[in-house]
Amino acid sequence: MAESQKKGEIATDILEEETLDNIHHVNNPVLDVPAVEKKYLNKVLSYVKQGNVFVFTDGKASIEVKVFSDEIIRVRLAPRSLFLDDFSYAIKKDLDIHPTSFSIVETADAFIIKTSVVVCRIQKEGFLVSFEKLDGKVMNADQQPMHWEENPDFGGYYVYCTKHTPPDEAFFGLGDKSTHLNLRGRRFQNWNSDTYGFGFNQDPLYKTIPFYIGVTGGDAYGVFFDNTFRTYFDFAAEQPDQTSYWSEGGELQYYYIHGPQMMDVVKRYHELTGTHYMPPLWAIGYHQCRWSYYPEANVREVASQFRKRQIPCDAIYLDIDYMDGYRCFTWNKRYFPDPRKMISDLAADGFRTVVMIDPGIKVDEDYWVFNEGKENKYFCRRGDDYYMEGYVWPGRCQFPDYTNPKVREWWGTLYRGLVEDGVAGVWNDMNEPAVFGRGTFPDDVRHYFEGLRGSHRKAHNIYGMQMVRSTYDGLKKLQKNRRPFTITRAAYAGVQRYSSVWTGDNIATWEHLKIGILQLQRLSISGLSFCGTDIGGFTGEPDGELYTRWMQFGVFSPFMRVHSAGDTRDREPWSFGPEWEAICKKFIELRYKLLPYIYTAFWRQHKYREPILRPISLLEQHKPENLMREEEFAFGHNILVSPVIQPGQQSKIVYLPEGNWYYYFDHTMLEGGQEHNVKTPLDEMPIFVRGGSVIPEFPVMQYTMEKNIDTLKLNVFWGQGRYESHVYIDHGETFAYEQSVYNEKYFIIEGEQNSLTIVQHIEGLYHERFDSYKIYIVGLPFDVHHVEVDGDILETLVDEEGKYYITVEKEFRRLTIS
Ligand code: GLC
Repeated sequence: MAESQKKGEIATDILEEETLDNIHHVNNPVLDVPAVEKKYLNKVLSYVKQGNVFVFTDGKASIEVKVFSDEIIRVRLAPRSLFLDDFSYAIKKDLDIHPTSFSIVETADAFIIKTSVVVCRIQKEGFLVSFEKLDGKVMNADQQPMHWEENPDFGGYYVYCTKHTPPDEAFFGLGDKSTHLNLRGRRFQNWNSDTYGFGFNQDPLYKTIPFYIGVTGGDAYGVFFDNTFRTYFDFAAEQPDQTSYWSEGGELQYYYIHGPQMMDVVKRYHELTGTHYMPPLWAIGYHQCRWSYYPEANVREVASQFRKRQIPCDAIYLDIDYMDGYRCFTWNKRYFPDPRKMISDLAADGFRTVVMIDPGIKVDEDYWVFNEGKENKYFCRRGDDYYMEGYVWPGRCQFPDYTNPKVREWWGTLYRGLVEDGVAGVWNDMNEPAVFGRGTFPDDVRHYFEGLRGSHRKAHNIYGMQMVRSTYDGLKKLQKNRRPFTITRAAYAGVQRYSSVWTGDNIATWEHLKIGILQLQRLSISGLSFCGTDIGGFTGEPDGELYTRWMQFGVFSPFMRVHSAGDTRDREPWSFGPEWEAICKKFIELRYKLLPYIYTAFWRQHKYREPILRPISLLEQHKPENLMREEEFAFGHNILVSPVIQPGQQSKIVYLPEGNWYYYFDHTMLEGGQEHNVKTPLDEMPIFVRGGSVIPEFPVMQYTMEKNIDTLKLNVFWGQGRYESHVYIDHGETFAYEQSVYNEKYFIIEGEQNSLTIVQHIEGLYHERFDSYKIYIVGLPFDVHHVEVDGDILETLVDEEGKYYITVEKEFRRLTIS
């Protein structure tokens, strides 16, 4: 963002010298490149096979095809037959996938590699690569041979891949792009950029996730173009029958990921790049943030208002002003004379403190972080060995090279003081990296890149990811057995292994509320399920209605945080008057009731690689019209929402997938597989629960784990047929779940016109504090005469609101209601 747009004591000594010398890179790099000859692959002359790797050559250039699993095949191109080191920041280290079977046959015009589900055909002429289903349906095929152009300025190549695009193909994915869910007809680039107040369709933004999903003829596949340079994707924009992706350097290297369900593609993408670790339970509560709450009295006042007004809240954030002159890892002692005391008082009241840490380290000989970095040569350097200097909040800064494991290790240790002070989470910002005036680092800055070396062209897009990785690893060591909480603005594919993300500096407009809904769905199917927006909008002023509608969407955002810029009016849930406060409170309470359901969705993400937000296209890809739906989405497995995104909206059309659904607020049952016109009073929003599901519920608490519960409420929604639901419970804070200290409860629900059966199966070793379930049944189509649990007859009870429920031991195996 332009520094002039921000509030606070911004360094005034920004030098004129930091001008636009590299601006061509920011704006239009490809067009500025002198015309050079395009070179194409020729004709396959021979191939060699080594295990699951095949290398085909035309005598000069080669491609490598590696069968990672029956469903995942990687293609790499080496223009001079010299493949680059096989290294990736995105792919997880302990990759544990193998093909079960594969074979190769040669025909007159092609080589055919076949697994149990995919046929990969490499045509001899031009090495055209295609991927097919076993029934012969082509999922993804080269339209022209892969090609390259020499890069006269930097060496290496611009590399290109062009695929054929059938008329019906729809495209999804690519991370945080602020556009419609279906990417068809659009061109994008990936170059992590600080984009304050970005607009609809603005590109690039903060994150680089070069992974897309194609859906054609009801079947899906994915492509992960694992290249950290500035990359481009054109989804039938320039040529209506072509999709291309290309890069300004590095290798043409992509993974074909077979479906045919979108859900399978997303899960397999997670197989390659990993999933989110389990967040601490408090991290999925409600968070209150602002640029900035200071001094201490202000922080305490905001916190105490939450408790006074009985609005649940788990975390409060300290933005840059808590630091001494924006020096990371220091405190401004004028504003925060005794941070440890303040943090411990807040903790006693159930608040965790999260602080901001940026990568820019102030050039200051009296500052220990700068001195340590300088002595150890941890800061990035220019091509000719000068230190990379640029201006950010503290003024003149140098920047750690997080692509060096030693630097990451050091950076991780710097959090010691903050952790000892009681800080519970860390927010890494400005890590695109952002530099005032020039946008980011110049291209010639050198990076260690795990010993493989590279200029900033290669390291730019992974800089932020490596920063937050080092933060995560550092916190993990310092906090011992407590799970870290981190959040980052810049990201590259695979960042989910280290952090949650938010969508950066959005605007308080209805349009941005809609953009947020698109971005979070997209992030979620691009591997980054733990994502959120600045609720209410970062810059600009929402009115009570926009703020409240955004809060409602926030309940169904995996990360739920209100945040706003420094020059805006107050943004606490009570700031817009009692009418709006009451609705915000009701919805934040709903978040707390749903916590065990949300936590289960996080577990399903962590363990089973399921995205938390699921667009309709992912739920029902076989219906072509669903590929254009983008406002309603599932939140976890059993809840579907369609946030209200227009002022004064009295009702909205919502599509419900097949099955039966219950309107959350009054339990009206609606038939799925069709659209419904749903009323949208201000204090409600379209929320639907799938028939056949079990939704666990906590009592409202002012913060997570405020109270022990002695009985867990389960809301069971009747549905005709057989369904499975899960409930996950663990300690909420430690890594014991890695040793199976958790409980995952599988409920099989069988609904008939005159009976309902619930069968429970429990896995895991955790001893919950509660003993029993209080089961509420919704939507039974018959009168209850008989309730039987594991052979014993039970009575139904009536609660204070007159609702029937059944109390059963938490270990019950079979419950029948008829
Ligand atoms: C950036 C962040 C924003 C933060 C501000 C000050 O603009 O995106 O969230 O409040 O910097 O640190």
